Amino acid sequence: MDDLYREHILDHYKNPRNHGALTDADVSVEGTNPLCGDELHLDLNIIAGRIEEIRFHGRGCSISQAATSMMTELVEGKTVEEAAALTRADIEEEMGIPLSPVRLKCALLGLSTLRVALNRHAGVALPEGWAGMDGVDWR
Ligand code: FES
Repeated sequence: MDDLYREHILDHYKNPRNHGALTDADVSVEGTNPLCGDELHLDLNIIAGRIEEIRFHGRGCSISQAATSMMTELVEGKTVEEAAALTRADIEEEMGIPLSPVRLKCALLGLSTLRVALNRHAGVALPEGWAGMDGVDWR
């Protein structure tokens, strides 16, 4: 079963969905994983409270790139409220394999950057105790 998930991750890494940039983005945000310094750039177009387009690019390991690709698929077309409700558990479920705490940070880079983008654009509250990637309760 693990092999299936590994293939799923590899597929998203090799063929990332929604990879690139939006020239006319409503909101653009840079996210960083402080453990490694890898950076993610996220662009969103939000029309009438719905994420119409989302693109990402940047530097990161296979886990972060694959998880961000999966995250963009999960939130594209969703309302801001639905996207804001996405949790760490949703990302873990998508990844499908157990992740060490370090790899989990990689996997959550996209989600944490999305949270900042939604906060900046629509004033969606960041999780309590927010401090970038650290100190976040990602339930
Ligand atoms: Fe940098 Fe994974 S090692 S995001």
